[in-house]
Amino acid sequence: MPYSLSVNGQVHLVEDEAQTPLLWVLRDTLKMTGTKYGCGVGQCGACTVHVDGQPTRSCSLPLIAVAESEITTIEGMSGAETRAVQDAWVRHDVPQCGFCQSGQIMSAVALLRANPAPDDRDIDTSMSGNICRCGTYNRIRAAIRDAAQ
Ligand code: FES
Repeated sequence: MPYSLSVNGQVHLVEDEAQTPLLWVLRDTLKMTGTKYGCGVGQCGACTVHVDGQPTRSCSLPLIAVAESEITTIEGMSGAETRAVQDAWVRHDVPQCGFCQSGQIMSAVALLRANPAPDDRDIDTSMSGNICRCGTYNRIRAAIRDAAQ
């Protein structure tokens, strides 16, 4: 039975199995490869997307759980917070290898939408689920502070 999946404002009919992780539906079926596979077990945050506006790890979420939800991926991000984060990311030269960055940005935008003026503790708490192997945490924190202004 095909599932109706709303991604970035567009409805797709997908025929993957009900338990297929959303990450693989996005990457393999819909060819949206901006969302990354890091650990596959909900530990690194590389696969973060927004489900009904909330940052969510797509590697641990079966297709059937999101068939009625609105999904936003890095490809579909827009709005004032997204532009502020993207601009701050460039100003602070945040990425190193870049692999985790789409997940980092998804979490950063969600943080700023929920809390437009986060302090360092808020930032560290909200971003703690997004691991960066290159250790760009200080630049991420500075960019979020900058984007919040
Ligand atoms: Fe999903 Fe690591 S790939 S949390």
